[in-house]
Amino acid sequence: MGFHLIQTSEGPIEHMTNRDNDDWHDYQFDIYLKGMAGTVPRLPTDLTRLEALAAQRLAPGPVGYVAGNAGSGRTDRANRNALDRWQIVPRMLRDVSERDMGVELFGRAVPAPLALAPIGVLSIMHPDAEPAAARAAARLGLPFTLSSASSTPMEEVAEAMGAGAERWFQLYWPTDREVTRSFLARAKASGYSTLVVTLDTWLLAWRPTDLDQAYIPFLRGIGTANYFSDPAFRASLAKPVEEDPQAAVRHWSRMFSDPSKTWDDLPFLHEHWDGPIVLKGIQHVDDARRAADAGMDGIVVSNHGGRQVNGAVGAADTLPAIARAVGDRLTVLFDSGIRTGDDVLKALALGASGVLLGRPYAYGLGLDGQAGVTHVLRTLLAEFELTMALSGYSRPAELSPGALVRADS
Ligand SMILES: Cc1cc2nc3c(=O)[nH]c(=O)nc-3n(C[C@H](O)[C@H](O)[C@H](O)COP(=O)(O)O)c2cc1C
Repeated sequence: MGFHLIQTSEGPIEHMTNRDNDDWHDYQFDIYLKGMAGTVPRLPTDLTRLEALAAQRLAPGPVGYVAGNAGSGRTDRANRNALDRWQIVPRMLRDVSERDMGVELFGRAVPAPLALAPIGVLSIMHPDAEPAAARAAARLGLPFTLSSASSTPMEEVAEAMGAGAERWFQLYWPTDREVTRSFLARAKASGYSTLVVTLDTWLLAWRPTDLDQAYIPFLRGIGTANYFSDPAFRASLAKPVEEDPQAAVRHWSRMFSDPSKTWDDLPFLHEHWDGPIVLKGIQHVDDARRAADAGMDGIVVSNHGGRQVNGAVGAADTLPAIARAVGDRLTVLFDSGIRTGDDVLKALALGASGVLLGRPYAYGLGLDGQAGVTHVLRTLLAEFELTMALSGYSRPAELSPGALVRADS
């Protein structure tokens, strides 16, 4: 436990943390110290190696579901290329002895510009599933975003995180208004502070890795926990879930997401959610402006990790123009392709206030449960802090596009 003082727009906030450590780079020393006692990290410290390790050690269906993409995987590759095309130009002699990676997100101080992205059906990666990932985030003071499609009901995940831990709820906006209302009320009652509404998944994309294995967890009733435990959802079934699970799954598949939604539907969210609202999946400047005009608090510039539209623009290629257009009106977050500490630095320099980490923590969970998620988060943030310092930056606010150069310029 510790206290952490952070500057926000409303002056300094004393932020109580139950973090295991205050300085992210300490993980480097921890690892070397444990080495003196003869142990080395159980998982790689180069997080780009996790996917291959997961493919070796875990079952092909689940790994395929996490690693898989829309179509031929072009968008996922474009995400990586978009970040790779930017390169950091390190600056020297700038006194980086005192560093603070903390930022303010939606009025709350967080110890690093990082939250865990919503990832559904985590029980396919590890039986400890969402509670383990959420506990790892909470112990480090980082926000955890719970997916609508989690394999654990939202109340149980909230309890696993504990009071005071920062949790966000991601909504796949259902066709059924009663279920939507019920989800929002349950999320609010169990302490989720921020609503993240995903706009890019009204339909499930054509995903060859899953199709080739004919593997989709939802049809087996995995990833439906929030629905099957929901009074409004249960009330709309002819027979209880337990008596006819297949009918429940069929009903779920018809109502989980509503492709008829438009910008005109957004006021419904404000009517039923009084906290910050963030639209996830924005890639066009005009959509970002509409989100700001609609009074949203934030957006996530994201293409769902290339899992929805094959042949789409790399997410980081859309970030600078969006941040320039709306960065002063709402909080711009970024995901899709974040793998290493320098990726975080680049996204912030391109205008994001924070990033969401996706697949790497799912692999960490699959490979080593809660400890694996902790390792992934501490590795990413140690590398981020060290890359910041070695590039001449002590705080995220010091970053600007001038920190980077285009590799091809
Ligand atoms: C296995 C898997 C499940 C996901 N489930 C959800 C979800 O339930 N809701 C959501 O908004 N995004 C979901 N996403 C997208 C992530 O939130 C995030 O946008 C994406 O992982 C970023 O790409 P990256 O992991 O390649 O960096 C999922 C991603 C993966 C890999």
